Amino acid sequence: MDQLKRQAAARALEEVRDGMQLGLGTGSTAKHFVELLGERVAAGLKVIGVPTSEATRADAERCGVKLTTLDEIDHLDLTIDGADEIDPELNLIKGGGGALLREKIVAAASDRMIVIADDSKWVSTLGKFPLPVEVIPFGLGATRRAIEKAFAECGVSGQMAVRKAKDGHVFVTDGGHWIVDAQLGRITDPPGLAKALSAIPGVVEHGLFIGLASSAVLAGGGGIRVIERRKPKGDQE
Ligand code: A5P
Repeated sequence: MDQLKRQAAARALEEVRDGMQLGLGTGSTAKHFVELLGERVAAGLKVIGVPTSEATRADAERCGVKLTTLDEIDHLDLTIDGADEIDPELNLIKGGGGALLREKIVAAASDRMIVIADDSKWVSTLGKFPLPVEVIPFGLGATRRAIEKAFAECGVSGQMAVRKAKDGHVFVTDGGHWIVDAQLGRITDPPGLAKALSAIPGVVEHGLFIGLASSAVLAGGGGIRVIERRKPKGDQE
């Protein structure tokens, strides 16, 4: 599996050109990309990156990739990131690693986003992977009830749980928020659910990435598949 992740990362690296401003994703697949990028940088490639988490910042620094922020530059040429699920419209579930907020800000600021994954992430319908919803701890009871209502209006339901870290304490994101993971099973209308969740006070962000991925690079036993998005970036219909 790790080999497949690295192969997807290596294929995406072929899209990187000298001088590019890059969004650097988070997770085990994105980590392969950062490592391979570091090798190219050591060989003379000039790029600058914006990391989507403190973990990726540390990896990029270790690999010698120069970093900046979205305050210092006004756009990104390309973001490369992993995903937890990818559907045929290239809608994504992200946030298994807890970095969804920065990942979405970076993807939205980027001209193109390439999703890299092993092909186990490819699904016909999103939802088997628990949907992460990043929330403010204040008023969480009210926020959870509003989330449940949004689920019901969008025809989904399922158990919700506040994410715990490995040490048993509540998982806290890089932004200081909590994550509620929702076991929905099948999300039949991802754009509709994304819109409903975004409208809830107390929800900082959610893991549905709609209309952001330009292409997906999927590595499997039979080789690499590149799937291009049919609709323009930002088109959610
Ligand atoms: C991080 O918050 C996530 O969005 C990751 O991009 C996603 O969980 C994929 O991670 P892996 O590459 O480790 O599967």
